[in-house]
Amino acid sequence: MMNKIFSLVAVAAMTLGSWTAHAASSAPAAPEMSWPSAGYLGAFDKSSLQRGLQVYTEVCASCHGLRLLSYRDLRDLGLSDTEVKAYAAQYEVLSEPNEDGERVMKAAQPYDKFVSPFANEQEARAMNGGALPPDLSLIVKARNFGKGNFFANFYDMLRGRGYASGADYIYALLTGYEDPPADVEMAEGMHYNKWFAGNAIAMAQPIYEAEPFADGTPASIEQQAKDVASFLMWASEPRLEERRALGIPVLLFMALFILVLYLLKRRVWRDVH
Ligand code: HEC
Repeated sequence: MMNKIFSLVAVAAMTLGSWTAHAASSAPAAPEMSWPSAGYLGAFDKSSLQRGLQVYTEVCASCHGLRLLSYRDLRDLGLSDTEVKAYAAQYEVLSEPNEDGERVMKAAQPYDKFVSPFANEQEARAMNGGALPPDLSLIVKARNFGKGNFFANFYDMLRGRGYASGADYIYALLTGYEDPPADVEMAEGMHYNKWFAGNAIAMAQPIYEAEPFADGTPASIEQQAKDVASFLMWASEPRLEERRALGIPVLLFMALFILVLYLLKRRVWRDVH
């Protein structure tokens, strides 16, 4: 009986999930991309993450922070300790007080958090025509296509896509700039983007075709958008691979253990049945 109730509830939840996902996505959904880190056994593509870091550093970092990451987290991307130190040293942070109680600016260290481009929200808005460039640490988890509800996210999770639809959105947004249709009047400082809610975004197109990356990959708009979206996926879940490396063996162990318990139960109850 309990079993039946449980499966009914599960089916209802999933139906409701996919139904609300449809209802909410009156805006067209961007195509699902294949991300190497999606799926139950996915892993990050390190060279893509390194290219994404470069795009973030050269393009996005002048407006968007990544305040939840530390520079030393970049070791996950395959950067050596010296490279991490050099990367951190491009930025400045306030030192601890010296004997006179003064705090001075000094080069950031690997243990420091990523330095945000603006001192506070007011400065960020003042420099961006009143719009606030959000911190990108968790943006991949915060955005997805009309699926801003628990059930739809849960359904994606069941499919092993986790937060991949957030990365789909970032990719679509960065490649979605177009001339506005003839009958659409854009407000001052707004840009037409076919994937942004309402189609008018205060962020000007950030990515343009560039010189090839150091590893020879051509830096088309699509390639840069894909790499920076992968990088932001990593930024929102830097421990993903560790979790999977631990979680999958634990699940296998549990499965075996259940079998052992079942056999044991049969043995103990043998005389009664
Ligand atoms: C010149 C400053 C500037 C640069 C450079 C810039 N952005 Fe933005 N970005 C903004 C502003 C301002 C907003 C807020 C837009 C709005 O609310 O209309 C924004 C919003 C966003 C959003 C949130 C969109 C949403 O759904 O609310 C994402 C994601 C984003 N930017 C990603 C990026 C990435 C990735 C890069 C680098 C490739 C980048 N931005 C470069 C200024 C910038």
